[in-house]
Amino acid sequence: MDYSSLAKRARAAKKHAYAPYSRFSVGAALLSRDGRVFTGCNVEDSSLGLTVCAERTALLKAVSEGARKFVAIAVASDENGFTFPCGACRQVLLDIAGDIDVVLTAPRSKVKVLKASELLPFPFGAENLTRKK
Ligand code: THU
Repeated sequence: MDYSSLAKRARAAKKHAYAPYSRFSVGAALLSRDGRVFTGCNVEDSSLGLTVCAERTALLKAVSEGARKFVAIAVASDENGFTFPCGACRQVLLDIAGDIDVVLTAPRSKVKVLKASELLPFPFGAENLTRKK
């Protein structure tokens, strides 16, 4: 799947955003290596810290449906410029999905593609959890 089609899927997923508090709707579309696309939107809670971002919604859906290898994730919002994943999502994407392409979208421009590792240099990862004797 080309990245402009993936971006379209992210824009469509944004329509399901549940964002009554921030009124900031986000959609994401995660492409797995087997060709499946898992979409997600942000889901807010009145206890604001329990909010789940669109990117993590998509990733958790994917893992819970058996996908473990990924190619790219597209992210869309109604912002004028590109929407970048938040810090928590950068950590979870790089840690669980690996160094995938992150396809940033903006309403009236072409997509911008960055690696997950570019968005999160010097990450914390599984190798940090090696037990010390
Ligand atoms: N949000 C996302 O879903 N993804 C991002 O990359 C940035 C932020 C959501 C969380 C919250 O519902 C709203 O946008 C405002 O922060």
